[in-house]
Amino acid sequence: MRAAAIAPSNLALVKYWGKRDSALNVPATGSISVTLDGLSTSTTVDFREDLEADECVLDGVRNGRGAERVTRFLETVRSSFGVERRALVESASDFPAAAGLASSASGFAALALACDAALGLSLSEAQLSALARRGSGSAARSIVGGFAEMRPGEAADGSDAFAVQIAPPERLPLAILAAVTTRARKPVGSTEGMLRTAESSPFYGAWTSSVPRALAEMRAALEAADLERVGMLAEANAMRMHATMLGADPPLLYWNGVTVELVHAVRELRAAGVQAYVTIDAGPQVKVLCEESARAAVREALLAVEGTLEVLEARPGEGARLQDVQG
Ligand code: DP6
Repeated sequence: MRAAAIAPSNLALVKYWGKRDSALNVPATGSISVTLDGLSTSTTVDFREDLEADECVLDGVRNGRGAERVTRFLETVRSSFGVERRALVESASDFPAAAGLASSASGFAALALACDAALGLSLSEAQLSALARRGSGSAARSIVGGFAEMRPGEAADGSDAFAVQIAPPERLPLAILAAVTTRARKPVGSTEGMLRTAESSPFYGAWTSSVPRALAEMRAALEAADLERVGMLAEANAMRMHATMLGADPPLLYWNGVTVELVHAVRELRAAGVQAYVTIDAGPQVKVLCEESARAAVREALLAVEGTLEVLEARPGEGARLQDVQG
């Protein structure tokens, strides 16, 4: 009852920011992402008779930060599939944990797939995606790979809230760079930030009602493999999400000064004729989408901004996959 899986992280091009059901972790709206080959998490789960409590080793740290969330996920698995045994979970990312990039998407996608194999559940891709969603909404998209669209669904039990692939990774040749501006932990996590935004930002209603159109435009831009449109739409969508967060009470400001400098640097590159576009999640790191041929120039421009600590690189890739299973 032991299995290992690896899953990539992903970057939202149309963001998920709000839930229609917090207990089942069902998003309020759809979202679209690109799967990040180059930023992955490997997870082993071992359901054992001799364990009295779940044990969790994340990036070498036993039962530290993040362990409680893993245990909550394992409880969901146990109650959904009638499992008694506790589990040992060991997980490691190939990107620096301290970089402040979300590892919950890759982590819970890998854990969902590993649980499926270890317990012999034989879940469909949609069911796996819905299961990963219970751990973290963005993890649902890392199951499928390529360009993924999360469907919020309508069912009260969240069973139709899962991601599907809308384009293979090769649809749009793309380089994705992430400029790290701080290694400090963000003060307000996504789950809490979404709740606060929904409860207190007067812009939240406008945000959720703007998403269906953003999704339709992004689908069309991906269908046409039009990098300029994909990039401009992604940048506008990220700015709208941040505007909505800024409207919360107290306001959610995830940016630092370097974040702002990086946005300007990318706009200058664009003015100079380089196709490069910015997107930012619930943190101060700046992610850039650009043509493969512009990768080196963009990297150089990001590193030239004072305060950029490092630049990580990725490309569109495949979804979660199994590494090893033992009965
Ligand atoms: C800004 O998936 O981390 O990165 O479902 O509460 O775990 P939970 O939230 P999470 O939120 C991701 C928010 C985002 C946008 C996105 O990835 O779509």
